[in-house]
Formats: sequence, C-alpha cells, structure tokens
Amino acid sequence: MRLIVADDEAGMSRTAADLFCEAVAAKPSSSVLVATGNTPMGMYAEIAARQAVGQCDCGQLRAIQLDEYLGIPAGDRRSLYGWMRRSFIDPLGIPDAQVMRLAGDAADPDAACAAFTTAIRAAGGIDISVLGLGPNGHLGFNEPPSAADAPTRVITLTEASIESNAVYWGSRDDVPRRAMTVGMDVLLAARLTIVVVSGERKREILQRMMSGPVSPDVPASLLQTADNVVVVADRAAAGELASTSAAGVRR
Ligand code: GLP
Repeated sequence: MRLIVADDEAGMSRTAADLFCEAVAAKPSSSVLVATGNTPMGMYAEIAARQAVGQCDCGQLRAIQLDEYLGIPAGDRRSLYGWMRRSFIDPLGIPDAQVMRLAGDAADPDAACAAFTTAIRAAGGIDISVLGLGPNGHLGFNEPPSAADAPTRVITLTEASIESNAVYWGSRDDVPRRAMTVGMDVLLAARLTIVVVSGERKREILQRMMSGPVSPDVPASLLQTADNVVVVADRAAAGELASTSAAGVRR
C-alpha cells in the first residue's frame, strides 16, 4: 500500500485524478468502481475538467456503483445512484449502457446482490476502484466487522455510519437503516485501488488502515493485503505520516 500526501484537499484531488487518468490512458475501457461521499468530489470535478480539454477520455469507461441505501428509488436525489450520476456519470458523459446500477429498490435485494456479483464477474472484474474511507473504517458499506471474503450483500448500518451519514440526509432519523454494498472480495481483487482521505477527522482511522492490525474490525485495513493500492491523503488527514515510495505499485 502506497501513501501519497498532498498539501491540501485540492492537491489530493489533483493527485488522485493524475493516477486515475494514467490508468484510463492505459486502458480506456476500464471498469471503474465509483465511490460517492464528499471526499472524491474534487477528484471527479478535476477529471471532468481534464476531459473537457482533451486530457482524459472517459467515454469508454464502465461505471459500477459501490453502494446504495435500501428501498430508495433511483430517482430519489438522496440515492447514492443519483449522487454518482450527478458527480461522475453525467459530467463525464458515460453512456447508460456502460453504467451498472446497484438497485437498492429491487423487490428481492439479495437476488439483486447476487446478480451484481455475476455482472461484475462478466465485466472482467474491477480495473480501477475509487474509494473513500468511512470514519469507522468501512469501505463502501462494508461495515465492521467485514471479512476479506465478504460478498456483495445487504447490510445493516452501524450506529457510527448512521451518525456519519446523517449529514447527507438532514437528520439521523432519516438515514435508512439498511444498505447494499459491493463486497470486500471484489474490492480486494481490484487491479488498481485509489483511496482518497481528507481532513483531520480521518487521521486516526487512516493510521489504522495503513499500519494497524489487519482485521475485519477495520475493513479498510484489509487493503494492506491487496495489490496496487494507492492512498492519497491531504496533510490534515496524514498528520505525521509521510509519502512512501512507489515500490510495489504498478503505474
Ligand atoms: C459513506 C459511504 C462510503 C464513503 C464513506 C466516506 O458512508 N458509504 O462509500 O466512501 O462513507 O464518506 P466521505 O467521503 O463523505 O467522508
């Protein structure tokens, strides 16, 4: 796992966009797992700005949703699908046929998760995984504890996540209690993982992800066992941690 420390959030977004666009140049038809949350928003805006001046062509990408609240229709602004559309799919002009939506409103959510697993496999797995870091160490909605072989599934949100997601919903009472997430098994098999981490409130969990014990209790720590993971953090999140060398990371 490599760490790149940027001076500030804007620098984090630019560096993460550099990594992303390099990977897209190497494989324009990459399958991309797309996190929502606030942290990757600057990165996505940066990628769109580069595409507008011909520097990063995203038109062939396949965009794959990472997580979703249960029972929220696709058209609801608060759905993570809606957020992914507004921040990534629409600005980059990715055609609908290349979008894989995780249907939180499916009549049979377990069957929808199984079908998503099959579809990701049929797409050849994940080329580029863009992830944020939950304050409790979750990735997507792989809540603690999540083992390395945890599949794509329906989960119940922990109190910590209900609390941290309340900002997206207005109040904690409005936050759905259940969600779907792409599983740890898929995340750990991605060919390139870019984790963006910003702000002082993520400092302690970033340390635990990078150098704490590898444990299902901190699902993000399992990335220590995965190939080709680059963590891009701003100084506020990194604290005393310094950038590490590129050894072991294919660019
Ligand atoms: C949310 C989402 C994650 C996201 C994380 C961090 O609960 N389920 O996909 O990466 O928490 O969010 P933020 O970037 O807003 O801190």
